[in-house]
Amino acid sequence: MGEGICDYTRFIVDLRRHMWLDGVETELRRLIWQIAVTGKYISAKIHESNRKLAGFQNLYGEEQLSLDRSSDEILKNQLQYSGFVREYASEEQDQVVEIGKGTEQYFVTADPLDGSSLVDTNLAIGTIIGIHKESIFARGRDSMVAALYITYGPLITMVYSAGKGAHEFVLNREGEYVLSQENITMKEKGSIYSPGGIRKDCSLGHCRFLEYLESERYKLRYSGGFVPDINQILIKRGGVFTYPAVQKSPNGKLRMLFELQPMAFIVEQAGGCATNGRDDILSLKIDELDQRSPVYIGSRFEVEKAKEFLSNSAA
Ligand code: F6P
Repeated sequence: MGEGICDYTRFIVDLRRHMWLDGVETELRRLIWQIAVTGKYISAKIHESNRKLAGFQNLYGEEQLSLDRSSDEILKNQLQYSGFVREYASEEQDQVVEIGKGTEQYFVTADPLDGSSLVDTNLAIGTIIGIHKESIFARGRDSMVAALYITYGPLITMVYSAGKGAHEFVLNREGEYVLSQENITMKEKGSIYSPGGIRKDCSLGHCRFLEYLESERYKLRYSGGFVPDINQILIKRGGVFTYPAVQKSPNGKLRMLFELQPMAFIVEQAGGCATNGRDDILSLKIDELDQRSPVYIGSRFEVEKAKEFLSNSAA
């Protein structure tokens, strides 16, 4: 993208304009924009549920869907109306849902509201989206054309990549997503770590890796929400998030399609990487909707270190 869009325009760059200047193909551009707009509706639902927490009742006394399920409904409907999506796979559904006519070119994966159990604690949560061509049952590196996530925190922000860098937008008061950071570039090495799982359930190699980070004075940053934790690493330009293999779940906790692949796509576009401890997350083939994997994701230095500790202890 050369010098960067911000450098040669004095105007506020909104999401649609950015994608157009960035050369994102028309249908993909419209699809990403539609998903970003859906983030506004999901955020309204979150707000509604917070009003309930604050003692406000639903005006009509209707039974409310859980936040996860209503976010899923909103997203599915919006994608269906877009006319660009053939199939929708969501963390909230146990099967892939055909929402198109069979001729559309995109397949969308979604975690409509990741970390929704944090809503009552007023911590940040998010939506994670992967956009594929051909099929989702493939290697992410072969099938993914774009990914994005939306963070619902004190601000609503959206980071997308269509394969040419990772860019952050902030939702302003007028309801527009305006460019805040273009071509986010992570440093080779960061200074924060975000470790999921319980240490005594983890492998020796993993424990040694964490001890190494601590001896190097990395600061602990773990919120329990994958979106804000990854967002922090990206926006602070470095660090590592891990959810390892644990005794009860040798494949870790996080899901390949809905959480790991989209974030790996974005982090790679920002100069970082993501591995299961041995192989790149994007090089792993997807066979099942609910496929999970251990993960080490973030700056290159820490991810390589994790691989080193894991392979040395396995030997
Ligand atoms: O997969 C859902 C999720 O809430 C992620 O957003 C988060 O990273 C992880 O689970 C937290 O898991 P735990 O509660 O075990 O730390």
